[in-house]
Amino acid sequence: MSPTDTPALRSLVLGSGGGGGVPQWNCNCRVCRLAWDGDPRVKRRTQSSLAVSADGESWLLLNASIDLREQILARPAMQPKGQGRHSPIAAALLTNTDVDHAAGLLALRERQPFTIWGTRATLDTIGANRIFDVVGRDIVPRRAVRLGERFEPLPGLTLELFAVPGKVPLWLEEGEVKTDEIGEGTVGVAVEAGGRRLVYAPGCAHVTDDLHARIAGAHALFFDGTLFTDDEMKRAGLGDKTSRRMGHQPVSGPGGTLETLSGHAGVRRILIHINNSNPILIEGSPEEQQVKAAGWEVAYDGMEVRP
Ligand code: MLT
Ligand code: MN
Ligand code: ZN
Repeated sequence: MSPTDTPALRSLVLGSGGGGGVPQWNCNCRVCRLAWDGDPRVKRRTQSSLAVSADGESWLLLNASIDLREQILARPAMQPKGQGRHSPIAAALLTNTDVDHAAGLLALRERQPFTIWGTRATLDTIGANRIFDVVGRDIVPRRAVRLGERFEPLPGLTLELFAVPGKVPLWLEEGEVKTDEIGEGTVGVAVEAGGRRLVYAPGCAHVTDDLHARIAGAHALFFDGTLFTDDEMKRAGLGDKTSRRMGHQPVSGPGGTLETLSGHAGVRRILIHINNSNPILIEGSPEEQQVKAAGWEVAYDGMEVRP
């Protein structure tokens, strides 16, 4: 960004789906069936990532989706400009080490400089897995940030990470799993540029006072929309885990997102990281109507938000 340009916060949804995407490779649930059939009521969705920028030229990925290559193919803003090797993707920050959020680092392995940001715990987890060393540490530094520390991964773009209740990634689960641990393992991100602010929390087991305060201070919120009802997967015969067991507060029901975040009507509120079993993905469904009536939007791939 040249010094004369005023930073202006932009965000671009690269992947609005949760783990598995829509449709999911092995799924024929109600939503996936419509998606496989090309029904216009259900948009295809790639897995979980939001890109943010202060100048519209260089971008920070909030999560590196396992579908990242497909997302770059779909979004001109993410494609190389000028001669030879180049990418507008200047940095990537991970909010946790779930496969949908971290595996995309492997798609960024062709000797392109950028920076990987995360908490110490997150960087230690990917650091312990040697496959990520394919992204050469000599040109791709990994930079740890502390919770509550303000930092500027790109000029004009200021971030702060904060703990949100969550659990270890599925691939690290062992024995009894605490589903709402507060620490460095699962974080939300507060992003600011040009005086505008957004909060991104694609995985959240329950809303803390800290998160309430951060939402109240933001212009836009991208929030965990994984499942509509706690027992949705069970009832559809897709698995036996509840939403809460997966570390995701359900959208509806007691203690759900519509209820707990109803006080933030002044903030533009968008559900993201939406699992394919979630009926809000069917346009015109009663559930989609319900979230809209409550003032929420449903993210889709390619959605642009200028908070
Ligand atoms: C989640 O958000 O709970 C995870 O992405 C699940 C998974 O790894 O499939
Ligand atoms: Mn996920
Ligand atoms: Zn499905």
